[in-house]
Amino acid sequence: MSARPQIGIIVGSTRPVRVGRPVADELAALVEAAGADAVMLDLAEQRLPLLDEALPPASGVRTNPHTIAWAEQIDALDGVVFVTPDYNAGYPAALKNAIDYLKAEWVGKPATIVSYGWAGGRSAAAQLHAVLDYIGLAMQGEGVQMPFQPTDFDEAMRMVDSPAFVGRSAEALRESVAGLVTAANEALVAA
Ligand SMILES: Cc1cc2nc3c(=O)[nH]c(=O)nc-3n(C[C@H](O)[C@H](O)[C@H](O)COP(=O)(O)O)c2cc1C
Repeated sequence: MSARPQIGIIVGSTRPVRVGRPVADELAALVEAAGADAVMLDLAEQRLPLLDEALPPASGVRTNPHTIAWAEQIDALDGVVFVTPDYNAGYPAALKNAIDYLKAEWVGKPATIVSYGWAGGRSAAAQLHAVLDYIGLAMQGEGVQMPFQPTDFDEAMRMVDSPAFVGRSAEALRESVAGLVTAANEALVAA
């Protein structure tokens, strides 16, 4: 039996109360249903400092334990879902920092973007797509943009029903995840 592809789900937001993690948990279930293993990579848990390597990532030199640990986790993946909110028409600084730590580990890796926000996080998704494309990830499809509705939040701005929010985009998400898992499987076979 062939190995199940390992699909990383990178949670790009790090606030103590956030939409990103529950959305990523829902995505993990979709990844598993598509026949892959979901590997949760929550940047709030990774706690990467601001990039503190002496040499640029393209040098391939990784010295700090947190850099080496991050590199090993990304290297082990067959595909990546980037989950991002829209922060002031961009994606979060923590996500850019986590991306900038590495280079070769990203190159050629099948990836897709799931964004959310009042306009589906389209500005963040566009910026992130440009950066990932520049680095050389193998971007799959257009990704999925999930727009909020006012009723998604209570008066404290906590999302009231994450499964329902993700459920509104279920078909697009299933299609996107299926495409990513197919690309990851192809990469596994070719390796
Ligand atoms: C710093 C910051 C900037 C934001 N800017 C935008 C924005 O430009 N567009 C938007 O649709 N929502 C914006 N929002 C609202 C977020 O979409 C909403 O708070 C969302 O829950 C953030 O994702 P998170 O909970 O995973 O951090 C912003 C929120 C924060 C914290």
